[in-house]
Amino acid sequence: MLVNLKTILSGLDKKAVGSFNIYSYETIHGVCRAVEKTGKPAIISFGASYLNNMSLGMVKSIVDEAVKGLPADTALHLDHCKDTDIIKAALEAGFTSVMYDGSALPFDENVKNSRAVANMAHARGVSVEAELGSIALGQYSNESDIDHGEAYTNPANAAEFANVTGVDALAVSIGTVHGMYKAEPNIRIDILREISKMVSIPLVLHGGSGTPEEKIKECIENGIKKINVNTEISQYTVKRLADIIAGDRNIHLSKLTLMQSELVSEVVEKYITLFAER
Ligand code: 13P
Repeated sequence: MLVNLKTILSGLDKKAVGSFNIYSYETIHGVCRAVEKTGKPAIISFGASYLNNMSLGMVKSIVDEAVKGLPADTALHLDHCKDTDIIKAALEAGFTSVMYDGSALPFDENVKNSRAVANMAHARGVSVEAELGSIALGQYSNESDIDHGEAYTNPANAAEFANVTGVDALAVSIGTVHGMYKAEPNIRIDILREISKMVSIPLVLHGGSGTPEEKIKECIENGIKKINVNTEISQYTVKRLADIIAGDRNIHLSKLTLMQSELVSEVVEKYITLFAER
């Protein structure tokens, strides 16, 4: 069933739900295949930066069809969006969750806008994720081409932000990057621990790709309940498809699209299982 973010993240005890970026029928199908194989929930996440690939209405229609009969819940989430008109359109299209990303704005403006989005979304039963702090840009990310640099989330600010905005989940900056790491990751579990002590809503980790498994485990142990993965799904799938094409240059496109879904599902399945382990 398609549920909102608050519902899919509720009742998780030292476990997290993966949020996987989609931008085509094949990627949606890949995430749904992984839910089918694992019997565990997942968040289907459409980034506002992929509006050239699919419209919001097209995503919603395909997702409605693709989640039918799945053995676990899914949520349809709008990832990283700074534009409230697009957020409104996602609410109208039937998304069950939206992320307002005001992380590049001054604190007060981020609060004001996040609160307005929360009021607007909650009136329709839709959940809201917001972000505080700034996540740096690694290699091969498709999230943005602008590196706003890294600014760790301040725990006291996070507590105030969660209280006054009424958002349902908060993305924090603790050293992960969007894309693959350029150097050894330095994940600040100490900061996460402080945030967790002060913030009661679910915490979100962006930049899941390439993060060492033991660090992911520590993050989940210390309050992370949603983990976003994008770049690694693309890197793995493109590499494997390139090998397949190199072995058979006359392969039919219909076979490649099926393989694409299967390869996406392999990465998603790995992460769904890792995040749900205790
Ligand atoms: P990665 O591309 O690093 O996995 O990050 C994805 C993400 O955070 C989407 O919001």
